[in-house]
Amino acid sequence: PTSTPGSPKETTTTDKYAYAFDIDGVLIRGGRPIPEAVEAMKVLNGQNPYGIKIPYIFVTNGGGKTEQERCIQLSKQLEMEVSPGQFICGHTPMREMAEKYNTVLVVGGEGEKCRQVAEGYGFKDVVTPGDIIKDNPDTTPFRKLTKEEHENSRIRNYAEVKIEAIFVFADSRDWAGDQQIILDLLMSKGGYLGSRSETFDEGPPVFFSHNDVIWSASHDLTRLGMGALRLSLEAMYKAVTGKELQTTAFGKPQVGTFQFATRLLQQWRKDTHGIDAPPETVYFVGDTPESDIRGTNEFNKESENTWYSILVRTGVFQEGTKPKFTPKATVDNVLDAVNHGIERER
Ligand code: G3P
Ligand code: MG
Repeated sequence: PTSTPGSPKETTTTDKYAYAFDIDGVLIRGGRPIPEAVEAMKVLNGQNPYGIKIPYIFVTNGGGKTEQERCIQLSKQLEMEVSPGQFICGHTPMREMAEKYNTVLVVGGEGEKCRQVAEGYGFKDVVTPGDIIKDNPDTTPFRKLTKEEHENSRIRNYAEVKIEAIFVFADSRDWAGDQQIILDLLMSKGGYLGSRSETFDEGPPVFFSHNDVIWSASHDLTRLGMGALRLSLEAMYKAVTGKELQTTAFGKPQVGTFQFATRLLQQWRKDTHGIDAPPETVYFVGDTPESDIRGTNEFNKESENTWYSILVRTGVFQEGTKPKFTPKATVDNVLDAVNHGIERER
């Protein structure tokens, strides 16, 4: 363990274990912190009976803003500093696709935010649904662009532009319009809008930043998420073309996301705490069995038993049901989850 001199009470950082947290339904709900979240972070930062600090990262399927912006927001909500070096959101691993595709359609989120995220990842030519509607307002009969959208949208002749891939970065704010445009592209001749393929097998690939069908927002009951849009799109594609649509989702429970998280945690422990070895155990705290618990359990198998799943009752999972994927522990809230790990390590 490394010690931190200069703090009022001498604290030591443990190199033995670490935490990874889901955000929605664990730390935040509908933009507000879950009551125990602020306290849980204080415990990790050394306010515990043993005077130890425990390294941690955040792994959310959410997105729609740059990692930097999300961290500023999370810092305010949790009353402590969160750095992009300890943060992954659903679309973070999509940055690795920026080299592969030139012109891409980016769907979802508020205003121009997702275009900015994609450009920040190095995508060279980013088209939004707003650009396409501005070029041809007949694209979406019932959606008119707002004044702001109209000003920001980039006009050009999309019949001559080959769109090579479709990325759903964040939740759609207009399911009907966005799905119409995605379907138009999927059914096009090689990604040129306005054309129709005879075989429906030459459209661009579609990537979603995650596959959560439901999630935990401010409503008492769960709300539909991006995975629901994915199901809807696949069903509509089948209805209009008679063919199956293959799409790809990033985020949890994909093993690639947990591998990404492992690398991030390793770098974070090294840069911030001077620890240059992998932890024996990573406690993952989540609220969604299908994403958080499934992903952690599957990754645990391939990482020699180093990931330990903890399910909380403050989000998607509710008492009285049996979770589809069984966690190592189920507790009431994130503070209990943190304490569970600390006691287990004694
Ligand atoms: O849209 C975000 C939501 O589906 C899940 O976020 O933090 O629970 O992974 P999170
Ligand atoms: Mg969650």
